Amino acid sequence: MKFKIAVIKGDGIGPEIVDQAIRVIDKIAEKYNHTFDFSFCLAGGSAIDATGNTLPEETIEICRESDSILLGAVGGPKWDAMPSGNRPENALLGIRSKLDLFANIRPAIMYNALSDACPIRKEFISDGFDMVIVRELTGDVYFGEKGRTQSGGVTTGYDIMKYSETEVERIGRRAFEMAMKRSKKLCSVDKANVLETSRVWRETMHRIREEYPEVDYSDMYVDNAAMQLVRNPGQFDVIVTGNLFGDILSDEASMITGSIGMLPSASLNETGFGMYEPIHGSAPDITGKGIANPIATILSTAMMMRYSLNLADEASAIETAVEKVLDLGYRTADLGKDYLSTSEITDKIISYI
Ligand code: IPM
Ligand code: MG
Repeated sequence: MKFKIAVIKGDGIGPEIVDQAIRVIDKIAEKYNHTFDFSFCLAGGSAIDATGNTLPEETIEICRESDSILLGAVGGPKWDAMPSGNRPENALLGIRSKLDLFANIRPAIMYNALSDACPIRKEFISDGFDMVIVRELTGDVYFGEKGRTQSGGVTTGYDIMKYSETEVERIGRRAFEMAMKRSKKLCSVDKANVLETSRVWRETMHRIREEYPEVDYSDMYVDNAAMQLVRNPGQFDVIVTGNLFGDILSDEASMITGSIGMLPSASLNETGFGMYEPIHGSAPDITGKGIANPIATILSTAMMMRYSLNLADEASAIETAVEKVLDLGYRTADLGKDYLSTSEITDKIISYI
């Protein structure tokens, strides 16, 4: 089959890790007889440098015409002084909202081979964990009205938090469907003891819960969820939550797996079209050293194959190869003293596909 992939390498380590992910895709193409056409486009800091604009219209057009989008990472200290609205982060937010990528799927899996890297004491994670955070990505305080007011010489900033029932329904259904495919357990995280937004969230979740009677559903306040994630992560399977809480909890969940360099993510629209990217950022401190961990990006290509391209066997081939390489003890610099470079670990992964 033939696929068109929009590729945004981005900033910092983005280009290094995306180059490796492309090598993995090329290996899949060869082995399974597919053709992947890559269209490279700019977003974030590199787009600001080249065009003055963090998200050129051309990039959105190329993304719209593609079957899927692969992104490295955007941002870095060089662009921190850019005006709000034209920062590298705005490119990400712009792609998410313009393409309606409302469902952010962030798995957090503890690999057996990496259990020593997990910062939680062994007795609390004896059974390991394998969870997915389903984060709403195009609403909430991220996209509500924001601004500043001045009064008596005092500046006040504000960002409106809001969710409509319609927004909650579509992310809720996504999460229930995910739970149905896994162990039929779903925890919805909110702050309904304080926030009206969360009360609407919770009422809506309870309504759609009726459509999924087989799912073991629970509600949890976000402060408690943050605590439970480090106390006993194995209790979670699928978590569904809003944009801001999901941002915070997904970083926490990634850290307890041992390394943020391992975790992929998908951001999907209603039809399954989406953007795939590692959870980690552009890591300016290690850029250009050849030591970045490419696995999160490589696993993101596996998610792309599974969720958007309908290539489940190919996705499993990538995931199995990654697991094999970890089981054999190969590590990148974030995970061990005796480590392989970004391209060397990719060589190993490719050799097991
Ligand atoms: C993420 C990031 C982004 C977010 C930033 C870079 C805008 O932290 O994808 O989690 O807050 O959503
Ligand atoms: Mg984040």
